[in-house]
Amino acid sequence: MIIHQCFRTQFAALPSLVRSVPDGDAVRAGVLVDFMGELTTALHYHHVGEDEAMWPLLLERLDGDTSNILEMEEQHERIGELIDRALAQASAFRTSARDHRGELLAATLAELSIALNEHLDEEEAVALPLVEELLSVEEWAHIAEIGHASIPKDRMLVILGYILLSASPPQREFFLAQSPLMARIVWKLMGRRTFEADYRRVYGHPPTG
Ligand SMILES: [Fe+2]
Repeated sequence: MIIHQCFRTQFAALPSLVRSVPDGDAVRAGVLVDFMGELTTALHYHHVGEDEAMWPLLLERLDGDTSNILEMEEQHERIGELIDRALAQASAFRTSARDHRGELLAATLAELSIALNEHLDEEEAVALPLVEELLSVEEWAHIAEIGHASIPKDRMLVILGYILLSASPPQREFFLAQSPLMARIVWKLMGRRTFEADYRRVYGHPPTG
């Protein structure tokens, strides 16, 4: 799933990005804390979509053992706790950008990345086949819509860029082909450039791939 791949890649990158901030560089810390905040918000609403519109339907329709579903719901809670801890540590880091605060934040982000990967592995192996079997296309689209609705309009192109970056060339073509014509035109005209500038600001180099 392309969006999962995007989450995996970006969350995995956060600990070393935070550790690379020069001691006391609050401007650089602020850039990364903002980026982290954007990712955690997107992940939070991705999970809200699943909590509201996916788990209840699966639990209702699944004939048999539901322990996997309950376990994945608990994983959401655990991830939510790690996000809350990271946000609190990030706000302290933004204020002083001292190394020891960065280290605390980076350690939480590393834990978050591991917990997220485990959860996404299980979701892809267990939940997505059930979704295909038990949910309609409209129900599935509604889950995705809850996630998309959280993205501010002026950040759509940048987020689209991060998603496309994680996609293989055929996935990228497929994803763009599914997008409305207007979105494709805007992406070509200015989206790629807007995304690349944002990426460079966060990573310090142009995107590769
Ligand atoms: Fe999930």
